[in-house]
Amino acid sequence: MTKLDLDIYLDDRDLDLALRADAREGLTASPKSLPPKWFYDARGSALFEDITRLPEYYPTRAEREVLVARADDIARTTKAKTLIELGSGSSEKTRLLLDALRANDTLGAFVPLDVSVAALRAAMERIAADYPALEVHGIAGDFTRHLGHLPSGGTRLVAFLGGTIGNLLPGERAAFLTSLRAAVEPGDWLLLGTDLVKDPGVLVAAYDDSAGVTAEFNRNVLHVLNRELGADFEIEAYRHVALWDAQQEWIEMRLRAEKPMTVRLLALGLAVDFAAGEELRTEVSAKFRREGVDRELSAAGFALRRWWTDPAGRFAESLAQAVPVGF
Ligand code: SAH
Ligand code: TRP
Repeated sequence: MTKLDLDIYLDDRDLDLALRADAREGLTASPKSLPPKWFYDARGSALFEDITRLPEYYPTRAEREVLVARADDIARTTKAKTLIELGSGSSEKTRLLLDALRANDTLGAFVPLDVSVAALRAAMERIAADYPALEVHGIAGDFTRHLGHLPSGGTRLVAFLGGTIGNLLPGERAAFLTSLRAAVEPGDWLLLGTDLVKDPGVLVAAYDDSAGVTAEFNRNVLHVLNRELGADFEIEAYRHVALWDAQQEWIEMRLRAEKPMTVRLLALGLAVDFAAGEELRTEVSAKFRREGVDRELSAAGFALRRWWTDPAGRFAESLAQAVPVGF
C-alpha cells in the first residue's frame, strides 16, 4: 500500500513576506540582485525541465551517467532506509537511487523537499505510482531554513543533486552544510552533485543556449515579481547575460536593462531605476574541484568517502558521511 503525505512549511503569507524582503533588499542594493529560489514557480520549474533536455546543458546527462554507473555501489555502501532529496524538482535521476536501494532491500521511505510545491506534488504522485511499496513523504520547504524538520530514524541518505549547491554563495554554502550536518546523525550519508570547472566556452554555452530557453527561464523571475508584487517590469527589455567569473570560478546569470527604465512595485510602494545597460544578478552557479569540495565537506563535519565523475570528467558525485563533530 502506498503512503503519500506532504508537510508544508511554506505558507502563502510566509512566502509573500520573504519575497517582499528579498525584492526590496536586492533591488535597492548596488549592484542589484535577486536570490535564485524565486525562479521556481510552476512555469519556472517547467522551464528548468526544458533546460535539462537542451543539447548545451550537459550537467543533467553527465550526472545521470555517474548515477547509472554508481547507484548500486551507493546503495550497498549506505544501506539507507530513508532517501531524502533536497531541491528534488522532478526527481527523475533519483529513480536510479530508488531502484538501487530497493534492489538491495533496505529502502522504506522517500522524502523529497522542494520550495516549488507544484513540482513537488507532481513528482510525488509519479514516484508513488511507480513505487507502490514506498512511503513517500514530501516536504514543501526551503533547504536553507527547514532542515530541522527532516524525519529521523534509520540510516539516512541525503541526496543533493543537479549542482544546486553551486547556486549558493560561498558563505551560504558553509551555513547550509553546517545546518545539514546538525540535522543528521553521525553515520548518515550525503550524496552531493557538483558541476566541475572546465573550458569556459562549454560552461557559458550551458547557461546561454541557442534556443533561448535559459534566457526565458532567467526572465521568469521578472514574471514572478510582476504577478506577486504588482510590479511592471517590461520583461522583453531585459537581456539574458551569462558570464564566467574566472576568479570565483562561477557562472553568473544577469538580466541587463536595454534602456533606462523605472520599475514600480505596487506591493512595496517602491520605484526602482535602471540605467541603460545596468545589470541585475539573478544567480551564480559555482563550479568545483575535488580539493574544494573535500575541504568544504570536512569543515562542516562530513568525511568524503567516495568521489566519482562521468567518464568525460564534467560532473562529480561525492559520497560523504557525517562524522561526530567537536564538543
Ligand atoms: N534536483 C533536480 C532539480 C534541480 S533545479 C535536478 O537535479 O535536476 C533546483 C531545484 O531546487 C528546483 O526544483 C527548485 O525549486 C529547488 N530549490 C531552489 N532553491 C531552493 C531552496 N532554497 N529550498 C528548497 N528548494 C529549492
Ligand atoms: N542548478 C542549476 C545550475 O546551476 C540551475 C540552472 C540551470 C539555472 N540553468 C540555469 C539557473 C539558468 C538560472 C539560470 O546549473
